[in-house]
Amino acid sequence: MSGSNIAFVLTCSIAGYKACEAVSRLVQRGHAVRAVATGSALRFVGEATLEGLTGRPVLTGLFDRGAAMEHIALTRWADAVVVCPATANTLNRFAAGLADDLAGALFLAHDRTKPFVVAPAMNPAMWRHPATVASVARLREWGVRFVPVGAGRTACGEVGEGRLAEPEALVAAIEGALAPAGPRWRILVTSGGTAEPIDGVRVLTNSSTGATGAGLAAAWARAGHAVTLLRARHAIAATPPVREETFFTFADLDAALARLLRDESFDVVIHAAAVGDFALAGVEVKGALQPAGTGKLDSATAPVLRLRPNPKLLETLRQRSRNPAVRIVAFKLTEGASPAARRAEVRALLDRAAPDLVVQNDLTARSAGGAFPADIYRADGAHAAHCSERNDLAPLLESLLAPLIPSPIAHQAPSHAALP
Ligand SMILES: Cc1cc2nc3c(=O)[nH]c(=O)nc-3n(C[C@H](O)[C@H](O)[C@H](O)COP(=O)(O)O)c2cc1C
Repeated sequence: MSGSNIAFVLTCSIAGYKACEAVSRLVQRGHAVRAVATGSALRFVGEATLEGLTGRPVLTGLFDRGAAMEHIALTRWADAVVVCPATANTLNRFAAGLADDLAGALFLAHDRTKPFVVAPAMNPAMWRHPATVASVARLREWGVRFVPVGAGRTACGEVGEGRLAEPEALVAAIEGALAPAGPRWRILVTSGGTAEPIDGVRVLTNSSTGATGAGLAAAWARAGHAVTLLRARHAIAATPPVREETFFTFADLDAALARLLRDESFDVVIHAAAVGDFALAGVEVKGALQPAGTGKLDSATAPVLRLRPNPKLLETLRQRSRNPAVRIVAFKLTEGASPAARRAEVRALLDRAAPDLVVQNDLTARSAGGAFPADIYRADGAHAAHCSERNDLAPLLESLLAPLIPSPIAHQAPSHAALP
């Protein structure tokens, strides 16, 4: 497949400099980029910069001389339209269907079989405002793809969400949207908690619901990946087209992982299952040891449970994998831990099991409503990204994994259709 044609719309944000870096990288990777800038965007980024980076004139207005039909010609030419940085003003205008400038006309005239990618950038209060929240939800419903915003210190000095994604993530999201239909990566997701039978009816288990794994599986299947969800019997089920298998005990999960990793070649394993650290070694009743998992203990006598540690499955994934280049994402859940303690836990996990990414979050900060404050770390321990909502986790991980997995697009020689 050749490089793609990208209409790249810049709106007014100080983050325009990061968008220029993304444009530069896209051009270097063989894509043809045509820049469009709103009048306000040009207060931050000069036309000469955009022309220099793209090698083509910049479009700025609906009535530019000789370019009056560009909003139609450009939508036909472009394989994808990208709005980056996207202001609150532009998002709200898109959601209202306004087309009195070139960006709005491009949005309405867009061929909706092609990707329309938006990378917002704004002050945290603007990002949280109900007007913006409603517009984002509406645009998502219409098929617009969002590059997750970052969190941290914004240009106005406020700390919060609303920062433009970093150039690497922008390029990965754009190329991800442009990737041909059909399975892109083969992904195995584990989810839910293992159970250890005490007797024939009672189990030792944990409170994992499997929501994170099921959500990731569904989002990645929608994004065109071939996803297998290996989930606990009582965890949240997969939605088609995700293929699923279930497990109950640690031993079931261990055996299913061994089989799947041996028989199939996965590009990515997301190990989100809450694997019990202990199995039942035996059950002691009135001093006599009985085997676990059989019969029904008399409720009148409290048994003593003898536990033995389970092996760490995370550490076995790479060596069991048919694909030696498999990328592994691990999860580290803490409970009420300080930031320093969380980092230490991540460091220990990286040293022990060498995953490619670790998603760390704390139980006290999560909510059923979708809040999912998590930090994502790379294999060398560097902080890679912060995630705020469950919905953002799949695209964030995708953008961090993309540079680690060979992409057909990155290796293509450019071969562009004529510009309009
Ligand atoms: C210095 C400065 C920086 C601004 N940065 C942003 C920004 O990052 N995000 C945003 O939504 N609006 C920002 N604004 C407000 C926009 O400029 C304003 O909403 C404008 O109408 C957006 O126009 P556009 O969406 O057509 O580009 C900024 C304004 C100023 C003066």
